[in-house]
Amino acid sequence: MKQFTSVLDVPDVQALIREALALKANPFAHQHLGKNRTLGLVFLNPSLRTRMSTQIAAQQLGMNVITLNADKDGWALEFQDGAVMNGNTVEHIRDAAPVLGSYCDIIGVRCFPGLQSREMDDSEHIMRAFIRHTGKPYVSLESATLHPLQSLADAITLTETRPKHRPKVVLTWAPHIKPIPHAVANSFAEWVNRLDVELVVTHPEGYALNPKFTGTARVEHNQQKALEGADFVYVKNWSSYSEYGKILNQDSTWMLTQRHLLETNQARVMHCLPVRRNVELSDEILNSPASLVQEQARNRVYAAQAVLKQLLENN
Ligand code: CP
Repeated sequence: MKQFTSVLDVPDVQALIREALALKANPFAHQHLGKNRTLGLVFLNPSLRTRMSTQIAAQQLGMNVITLNADKDGWALEFQDGAVMNGNTVEHIRDAAPVLGSYCDIIGVRCFPGLQSREMDDSEHIMRAFIRHTGKPYVSLESATLHPLQSLADAITLTETRPKHRPKVVLTWAPHIKPIPHAVANSFAEWVNRLDVELVVTHPEGYALNPKFTGTARVEHNQQKALEGADFVYVKNWSSYSEYGKILNQDSTWMLTQRHLLETNQARVMHCLPVRRNVELSDEILNSPASLVQEQARNRVYAAQAVLKQLLENN
């Protein structure tokens, strides 16, 4: 593996999950691997879990870690080729990225979408510019369209807690007060489609995700019907993809509560965090044993560690 930007970069998903579970059982077994190697983490947007779990993962492999909060501490970056930089941007990615590449052995970048232009966000122009101009192995810390480290952690959590039968997994849209990117939902669908599960996606009209990522998942607009017999419910808001970046619906009946779980198969409930309590998901669920959110967050460490281990071994 030379880069980790989506499930498509992973030659064997099940092997990567097994690797992560082995690291969870023995996190310090490969401390020699990262000796004298540096991971550079660049955040163009806020983070708690991704920042800390990736740093812990790298340290458990013996790596040095440098974090740049580029949104606050860095120079304002320009990404447009040929730009006349007489405005707010101070440094071009063509100049900044090779510097990062010369300091670091692996580069991780978080770059959210602008949610203004679908074409521009779908092109992943920021991520592609970092990959091209740093020239180093790259790990996505969430891009405009995907969040593969989160999805790998979710796949690990599903693998650890799945029942004996082929589970039904429901990805349900939830209300939110702000326009939210599609990355977590896209990525969850893309990864879960590679596991032996039945995936159903439920959302109000106007919230269809890009079919490039949902693939063969069944779409059901009736949330209650979708939830019938579910073993896992993944709760997430996303803004409209067809009316790009817009909020079309804030119907609070879509917020997941205990009542929604009555017809499920005692479903476990997942969310990537951060979660807007009592807007997306009720306190009663988050505070109950049904919630898997802390297990998911913990597995972020081993997801990142498995990915970094493969990048170190292969480069
Ligand atoms: N789930 C997740 O990526 O959390 P952060 O935004 O806090 O990194």
